[in-house]
Amino acid sequence: MSLVSLSDGLLLTKQMVLIPHLVAAVRKKALEGGNDLRQILIAANWKMNKLASEALSFSRDFLPMAGDHTNIEVVICPPFTCLYTLQNCLNGTGIRLGGQNLFWEEKGAFTGEISPLMLADAGCTYVIIGHSERRQIMGESDVNINRKIGAALESGLIPILCVGETLQEREKNMAREIVKEQLRKGLQDISMANRQIVLAYEPVWAIGTGVNASNDDAQEMIAFIRSYMEKIYDKAIADSLRILYGGSVNEGNIADFIAKEDVDGALIGGASLQADSLAGIVRAVQNV
Ligand code: PGA
Repeated sequence: MSLVSLSDGLLLTKQMVLIPHLVAAVRKKALEGGNDLRQILIAANWKMNKLASEALSFSRDFLPMAGDHTNIEVVICPPFTCLYTLQNCLNGTGIRLGGQNLFWEEKGAFTGEISPLMLADAGCTYVIIGHSERRQIMGESDVNINRKIGAALESGLIPILCVGETLQEREKNMAREIVKEQLRKGLQDISMANRQIVLAYEPVWAIGTGVNASNDDAQEMIAFIRSYMEKIYDKAIADSLRILYGGSVNEGNIADFIAKEDVDGALIGGASLQADSLAGIVRAVQNV
């Protein structure tokens, strides 16, 4: 945590002292008033899992188990091949759909890619961009992530921009610097005017490992991200931005994350694949 520049350090200190009360008030207001500002978001990232038939049985099981989820927003990001099936069975339930990636062009000779328009047509409201698996396995760069964010916003999709450091980077005390650079490059020239974007802090070492960040670590980094967003945009945008934690979130630990001032939800991989487990997470959030 020591590599943060002095000005960031000052901002963070100010943020931690002054803003949490405002943040709590904003969130309370969102929950009570039913508006969208900082409404808790639970996003399921199914990655490359499930056939369409499995998605269908998941939704049949999940819906009755999830109970009342009207105070929070629940999004399922399945493989592309499950989108139409889920669009049909989730219609009218309030549960939204998201893609796990997109390409920035609308159409054309881009074999194997999917456009923002196609995702919207398949019922998506959200799209995950810059997940660490795409950064690491597919070699996705910050420049391309930036183009994808722009294309998603242009098409009216809400990007969920993922950032996070590796274990090596954390051990070298570079976590904040890495996250800051991913945000700076990923959001370069992106205007927030009248647009929604969600950020997800996902430390790479916590993804799929069963070793989650502590809720204090998540809060600390997410407060830092919020302070950086205030620096590159403004306070109103930073205060209204939803920032999720991701990495080995489950039914047992979700409440602790959500209870933190700056954590507005979670991006969940493994624990979102079973209907009872995702429903347990949704119920736990409702009870916080
Ligand atoms: P996990 O994955 O919950 O299985 O750790 C999170 C993610 O990759 O978004």
